[in-house]
Amino acid sequence: MKYSWYILFIAFLSAGCASQQNNNVKSVEYKSGAVVTAHPLASQVGVDILKKGGNAIDAAIAVKFALAVVYPNAGNLGGGGFLVYRNKDGAIASLDFREKAPEKASRDMYLDEDQNPITTLSLDGHLAAGVPGAVAGMDEAHQKYGTLPWKDLVRPAIDLAKEGFRITARQAKEFNSHKQRFQRFNPNGAAIIKVGNWQEEDIFVQPELAKTLERIAERGRDGFYKGETADLIVAEMNRGNGIISHHDLESYNAVWRNPIVGYYKNNKVISMGPPSSGGVALIALLQSVEKYPLSKWGFQSDSTVRVMVEAERRIYADRATHLGDPDFYNVPIDYLTNKALNQGRMSEVSLRKATPSNSVKAAKFPGYESEETTHYSIVDKEGNAVSLTTTINGSYGSGVFVEGAGFLLNNEMDDFSVKPGTPNMYGLLGGKANSIEPGKRMLSAMSPAIVERDGELLMVVGTPGGSTIITSVFQAILNVLEFGMSAQESVSAARFHHQWMPDHIDVEERAISTHVRTSLEKDGYRINKRGPIGRVENIIKLPNGKLQVGADHRGDDTAVGY
Ligand code: DON
Repeated sequence: MKYSWYILFIAFLSAGCASQQNNNVKSVEYKSGAVVTAHPLASQVGVDILKKGGNAIDAAIAVKFALAVVYPNAGNLGGGGFLVYRNKDGAIASLDFREKAPEKASRDMYLDEDQNPITTLSLDGHLAAGVPGAVAGMDEAHQKYGTLPWKDLVRPAIDLAKEGFRITARQAKEFNSHKQRFQRFNPNGAAIIKVGNWQEEDIFVQPELAKTLERIAERGRDGFYKGETADLIVAEMNRGNGIISHHDLESYNAVWRNPIVGYYKNNKVISMGPPSSGGVALIALLQSVEKYPLSKWGFQSDSTVRVMVEAERRIYADRATHLGDPDFYNVPIDYLTNKALNQGRMSEVSLRKATPSNSVKAAKFPGYESEETTHYSIVDKEGNAVSLTTTINGSYGSGVFVEGAGFLLNNEMDDFSVKPGTPNMYGLLGGKANSIEPGKRMLSAMSPAIVERDGELLMVVGTPGGSTIITSVFQAILNVLEFGMSAQESVSAARFHHQWMPDHIDVEERAISTHVRTSLEKDGYRINKRGPIGRVENIIKLPNGKLQVGADHRGDDTAVGY
């Protein structure tokens, strides 16, 4: 039946089954358009653009710039990201505006004389920054699909930067907790987040950022990659032994790439391909679990968790070996997303015993050798959809503000494999496929996704969370398709995560019942309790055409629609 999942979810709701898992089950619905982002003001900017007649891409551009102002820990001008697009007729596209390694970067740039990694170098300070892709990405998206004038899309961000906005309690806490890092990397006082005792409702004004945005509004990508902004970035590099040059900036290009497409039962899943591992891994995970009766077993039941964890262990081993920038490394996408191969590998899985990760190796294919990010989902009144994840990698990126330009630089270089066998800040391993080369894009886990069924839009979903991004999106999709949850339930539900190495299951406080945990531990699974995993944003298009929204209340995330 066409919308059997919807009927299923109503049934689950009335049985109170899914709601037992979640504190926040209220699902809001909108008739025409919806925007779900990490900050209420950015969501409002997006909806204002939709109401003015802008499409989902116009709104996505305006939201991107607004987040750079109101959500400086992750929303950015100095980072990069990925955009997945599906238009009202089902045509799909994906845009890669991931940062690149500067031309002066080299494979061993973060190793000492004894070839040991100096891990702080790829995380903190000027040398940690890749060439930003954010502004080129928005310019490219606008040229291809935008309908409203570019200046009108940057304007709301300029106003927010100039006039200021009231920060949330969470932001005040974060600003205060980053005091020392800001002081360390901005000795001249360039940090626009002034060191002080921030409190909820304080007004945050950013005049330098407003000027940078004005240059971008006036000159498009040239307002960032050339002229005064570029000069300020290069001057900042010179102050801190950074290596991004004028030529790196001028030659940066955003790239339209083929989206990764796969099927889970009768659902078409569309996501981002390399240099993100997200789409490939997400499809491979869904394929791996497809044959198991998950809905019968139930949400986070013993068998469901085992099967999901065993799939995750194997797919993350593949990720570490086979994924990297496709412009530099021949990524075996067809093999990695081959349903028969992925399901074949699951035949060795036992539901009685954990497979130790050190006995799991990446699949071998013929011909092949070997916090902080933010996501938003938008649907406009025509049914065009944008799923966009953007990042400066760690919280507040490299900690370096470009003096005079009012924005932070990323520390995305840490997403490269600094040395085979050395984990990055998310514990992820990598090898040759993801080694540092000049002009190469570092591997990402970002997984902006769109799901359709029977040619109709069904879901627009994604999240931040480093290595946990892929498994969080995987769970959000299964929460809807298998466990009948609403959009809000699908993002509120507690999550767990396994990434091959380290060999343990990360679990949020509420995830996986004590009974199931005990059973898993008895059979060799190690459980690691941790804080919140991800901040998923989800929009579900219901059979009646309404847009049901889910904003993740692990943060200040907010859905606005009309
Ligand atoms: O591209 C990646 O996979 C990482 N740089 C994402 C970082 C991230 O999600 C941090 N957010 N919590």
